[in-house]
Amino acid sequence: MIFTVAIDGPAAAGKGTISRAVAEAFGFAHLDTGALYRAVGVKGGDPVLAAQSLMPEDLARDDLRTLGAGQAASRVAVIPEVRAALLDFQRRFARREGGAVLDGRDIGTVICPEAEVKLFVTASPEVRAGRRWLELGAEAGARSLAEVLAEVRERDDRDMNRADAPLRPAAEAVMLDTSDLAVTAAIDRAVAVVRARLDLLRG
Ligand code: C5P
Repeated sequence: MIFTVAIDGPAAAGKGTISRAVAEAFGFAHLDTGALYRAVGVKGGDPVLAAQSLMPEDLARDDLRTLGAGQAASRVAVIPEVRAALLDFQRRFARREGGAVLDGRDIGTVICPEAEVKLFVTASPEVRAGRRWLELGAEAGARSLAEVLAEVRERDDRDMNRADAPLRPAAEAVMLDTSDLAVTAAIDRAVAVVRARLDLLRG
């Protein structure tokens, strides 16, 4: 069965947690596409060459989740040749046999417009900055919550206003605002949307 769940949204909205839970609930494969851009961003050198020669070990680095890696990712993500180099791998992953969940910024709009389910996960910038600040722990210790909020806003701005594949919901995306939702409630809603679509397709 080919079945793609596209989960897009801004930084720290809860996409990763929801995606992993949906993949586990249905036995689908999961790809965190932000990790590809983070790996290109931290690799250094020419970002286009880095994207064209990305290796599995680049994705296993333990510094991919830092604030710096997030900023580096959003800087290389504006380069069309970088996006082009990562396109095929993501498309093939999306349409693999057995079902796939991909989370990112442009999955429902560019990578897999034919996705069977499209979710757009959001939360207010303040809520997202608070989550990121807690998640970063020691690294964030050196930064105030206000500084993390400023970085979240800067990254939103860059992701939403770039010319190539800007962050925006697909026309038919189901919106999921997690600002006031417990993690379990957000996961339940996402799982329910996927289940309804699967039931419909299976008749
Ligand atoms: O989701 P994550 O915070 O790991 O993404 C890091 C950055 O990578 C984003 O801010 C965005 O600029 C870029 N990205 C993208 N398209 C994707 C996934 C991530 O442009 N599909």
